[in-house]
Amino acid sequence: MKMRTLLLAASAAALMAAGAAQAREIKIGFIAPKSGGAANLGIQLEKGARLYIKLHAKELGGDTIKLIVRDSKRPGGPIAKAAAQELITREKVELITGIIFSPNAMSIAPLATAAKVPVVIMNAGTSWITKLSPYIARVSFTMWHSGYIMGEHASKKMGCKTAVSGYTNYPPGKDSVAAFKRGFESAGGKVLDAIPMGGPRSVPDFTPFFQRAKDKKPNCLYVFVPAGNHAAAVAKTFDGLGMRKAGIKLIGPGDITQDTQLQKMGSTAVGVVTAHHYYADLPTPTNRAFVKAWKAEYGAGSTPDFIGVQSYDGMAAIFHVIKAAKGKRITAAGAIASLKGWKFDSPRGPIMIDPETRDIVQNVYVSTVMMKGGRLVQDIQRTFTAVKDKCKELKIGKCGK
Ligand code: PHB
Repeated sequence: MKMRTLLLAASAAALMAAGAAQAREIKIGFIAPKSGGAANLGIQLEKGARLYIKLHAKELGGDTIKLIVRDSKRPGGPIAKAAAQELITREKVELITGIIFSPNAMSIAPLATAAKVPVVIMNAGTSWITKLSPYIARVSFTMWHSGYIMGEHASKKMGCKTAVSGYTNYPPGKDSVAAFKRGFESAGGKVLDAIPMGGPRSVPDFTPFFQRAKDKKPNCLYVFVPAGNHAAAVAKTFDGLGMRKAGIKLIGPGDITQDTQLQKMGSTAVGVVTAHHYYADLPTPTNRAFVKAWKAEYGAGSTPDFIGVQSYDGMAAIFHVIKAAKGKRITAAGAIASLKGWKFDSPRGPIMIDPETRDIVQNVYVSTVMMKGGRLVQDIQRTFTAVKDKCKELKIGKCGK
């Protein structure tokens, strides 16, 4: 070996001995719908994650993140589960994230436990999901964040004494109406009926469900449908059946006025009252800067919505996990330990991962849709700070186990 090569080898060995870590490529599995009826949700989710990576890449020193994206296609579970299996065994990812729809999150949970792979859920709302594996942390929301507060607000501030609820018939829908009922009835209201309205995969004709609700003559109609194409059909059917004229108020979680759907809902959305953890119109400096950065990256006509902010925040959480691993491969126990109590100044307001439940603690806002200058806007009227998942707080059903 020549002298120069020897010297180079010796200095490289010295550097390694001194603990200078080599740059790592960190493989992260990202599961989201990229085709089918929910493809737009997957696109929004990936945009938020990639924006965070782009804006903060330098914080990882020389390390880089490789997002390995897999299409979950449908909400039902099996395709997401197969994707997770492949990401773990073949790609040997260090962490799994993305994930839209509760059944997908539920199907991945046992794999996380068995393979000891940490999972950061970016969009699934059924409260008890975090109970399914000690290696799950959630940065999105639970249906109880919005449902319970909407119930209390409808009874105490909107003069609704009676309500009917309608829900997409799968776990987060059931959770959402249970949360609403608890909040509404504990504040003195009465839920007259709870109407299942088909599954999440396709948008049903809401007419028979809303007619059944109208016949009960409630003061409020509380509706949960998952983000995406359902919302516009909800507002249109509500208007078309003359429910607004009959004096009924349309209320729900912010999923029914998702920011990326709002403008196409037109005047039928005016007056809809929702509770949610994020609106693109939040008038805070952190959110304004976020919306500006989003538009700079994706175009003036593009807007973040709650899904985009959740994946942006989720990637902030993952950066935190990577930094805490100090150049070593991420472990499930290490990742979850570092996420417990993690705090972040999110565009949605301050957030934290509850050290006891691994679920998100966040602000919840109450908003009314208004028309201003030909544009629909979310007018935020109330802010509840540092809201925890009420289902686990009250130990209801599977949340208590
Ligand atoms: C869910 O499946 O948990 C889910 C999906 C979309 C939403 C809310 C909840 O908007």
